[in-house]
Amino acid sequence: MKHLINIDSLTKEEINQIYQRASEFEKGIRKSNHTNGNVISMFFENSTRTRLSFEMATNKINAKFYDFKAEVSSINKGEDIYDTINNLSAIGLNVAILRHSDNNLIKELSSKTYYNDISFINAGSGTDSHPTQALLDFYTLKKQFCDLKGKTITLVGDVAHSRVAGSNIKLFKKFDMEIRCLAPEYFAGEKIEGVEYFDNLTTAFEGTDIIMALRIQKERIQEHIDIGNYIKNYQITKENLPYAAFLMHPGPVNRGVELSNEVFELQNAKTILNQARNGVFVRMAILDMLLSAQGL
Ligand code: CP
Repeated sequence: MKHLINIDSLTKEEINQIYQRASEFEKGIRKSNHTNGNVISMFFENSTRTRLSFEMATNKINAKFYDFKAEVSSINKGEDIYDTINNLSAIGLNVAILRHSDNNLIKELSSKTYYNDISFINAGSGTDSHPTQALLDFYTLKKQFCDLKGKTITLVGDVAHSRVAGSNIKLFKKFDMEIRCLAPEYFAGEKIEGVEYFDNLTTAFEGTDIIMALRIQKERIQEHIDIGNYIKNYQITKENLPYAAFLMHPGPVNRGVELSNEVFELQNAKTILNQARNGVFVRMAILDMLLSAQGL
C-alpha cells in the first residue's frame, strides 16, 4: 500500500489486514517504532477527531508529527499545492494527510512524482471520500458483530453531501451488508445500485441492526433546507430509536438536529465515542503500513 486515497482502491483482504493490525495495537500486542518517519497533516477544512487522532496515532508509533497551517503558509503567497508538497518531500516529510474541499485533488496529487517518496492519506475529500472514517466504522462494527454479512445498516440524513456515506456504502457493499438510506428527497442524492431508499423512518428502522446518523453538511448546502421539517420527520429520538439498534454517528453531531439531546443518555449512544476512540488504532495501523512500505 503506497497511498490511502479511497475505499475502491482497497481489497477486502487489505481492509481485514488494517482491522487486524489496529486490533493488535488496541490490545497492546503490536508495537511500532518509526523514529525515522515524518508525518504531516494538511487540513484545508476544519477537523477535531481526524486531525487529532492522526496526531495521537503518529505519536503512538513513535514517528514525528508536523502540522501544516495553510493560513500562514506560502500557499497564501500563491504557491501551487503540488510545489508545496514537493518542497515538503525535499525537506523530509514521508506521509501527507490531506483534507480538502476538492473531490479530486488528492487523486491528482498522489499520481505525481516528488523529490522523495511521499505517501498520501485522504482525510476527507469534498463530498467524495473519507476512507479512514469508513475503516474506523468497519473496525467498530466488526468488534461488535464479528461477521457483517447480511447485517442491515440504515444511514440516516444528508446522504447527498456526505463523504462518510459515500466511503461507507462502498465498504459495506464489499462485506455483503444490507444497506438502507433514510432521507428526504433533498438529501437522498443520486441513487446507488444495491442500496434501498426510504423516506419514512418507521419503515426504514424495521429490522435494522445498525443505524448510522449523518451530519447535515451545512457548509456544502446552497439551497434553503427546512430544518424544522427535517427534525420532525428524521431526527433520531429516544422514542423512535429501536431498543436493540447499534447507533453510530461519525461526528461532529449537530445536537438537537440529527439526534435529540436525550439520545445521548442511552446506552446505544456510547458507540459514538467508541468510534472516535477506535479511530486512533485504525490510523496507527494505516500509518504503520505506509511507513513500513517506505522502509521507515
Ligand atoms: N468524523 C470526522 O471526520 O470528524 P472531524 O471533522 O472532527 O475530523
